[in-house]
Amino acid sequence: MEQEIVALQSTAKEMLAAVEDTTQLEEFRIRFLGRKGQFGALMKGLGKVAKEDKPRLGQMANAAKKEMEKLFSEKKQALTSFTAGSVSGAGIDLTLPGRRPEKGQLHPVTQIMNEVCSIFENLGFSVAEGPDVEHDHYNFEALNIPAHHPARDMHDTFYVSDSILLRTHTSPMQARIMETREPPLRVIAPGKVYRCDSDITHTPMFHQVEGFLVDRDVSFADLKGVLTVFTRKMFKKDLALRFRPSFFPFTEPSAEVDIACVICDGKGCRVCKKTGWLEILGAGMIDPEVFKMVGYNPEKYSGFAFGLGIERIAMLKYGIDDIRLYYENDLRFLSQF
Ligand code: PHE
Repeated sequence: MEQEIVALQSTAKEMLAAVEDTTQLEEFRIRFLGRKGQFGALMKGLGKVAKEDKPRLGQMANAAKKEMEKLFSEKKQALTSFTAGSVSGAGIDLTLPGRRPEKGQLHPVTQIMNEVCSIFENLGFSVAEGPDVEHDHYNFEALNIPAHHPARDMHDTFYVSDSILLRTHTSPMQARIMETREPPLRVIAPGKVYRCDSDITHTPMFHQVEGFLVDRDVSFADLKGVLTVFTRKMFKKDLALRFRPSFFPFTEPSAEVDIACVICDGKGCRVCKKTGWLEILGAGMIDPEVFKMVGYNPEKYSGFAFGLGIERIAMLKYGIDDIRLYYENDLRFLSQF
């Protein structure tokens, strides 16, 4: 019996040393260490030995099996994990640093868009989204811009058909929302808009956020208040604001809003073209004609609206002078934000 144990152990060791891959290792395991394996048979054989030899032979067989199990798991480890020894022949240098997976991030325009929306959400505005492919009716007619109105020229519209187009601004959302809801309303509508225009400050597609508030007794002072809070939060500075009289067919009175140049603090520089001011949005009190078209009583309600260009805000915030950089998808540019 003693010899049997010693013999089995040495055969097992030899076989194990010859194992070259995990398939052979598994064959080894079944043959020697498995439930019907040779070490198991050895243990069973112990039942037949003389009573006084049992403890000694039992211990011996057990120790032999334990040792084989240990050698087996060491072999397994060596075959399944890369160690310096096991791969050096394959020309792999384990001391080199690993390859880092590339981490993505939100596009700067998306980041600014989210920031703008969250500032207005904190002021109690809710977010609404509408279609990029729009009816002429919502983009123009419902906003007091009838066919042949000269204001249509400003829009450089992409037409899909006579009455369908790519929206040129987010203002159609004013009409869409007012048509389906009653005041009080506090809504912002972020999204893509399209104009047939391309140079260093224009791309054919860009982003706007429309905002409007309708209730009883809303005044221009409310518009000023909301926009002042917004710009100061956005640029994290106590910026001065300037409202310049302007014209939009859907607001009366209308204004273009400037902020003190964020680059030179109003002193005058290349970005603000020495004026000290930067235009950031268009706004005004919603025209009574627009209210009539959606079925609101202009005697009862008043409201303000504004529309701001996201790329423009991002350019001012980050001091970027060519809008096209946003859409060239150069990761060296995009990953800076
Ligand atoms: N829709 C206008 C534009 O794109 C901006 C605007 C929105 C002006 C709301 C007034 C009120 O130029």
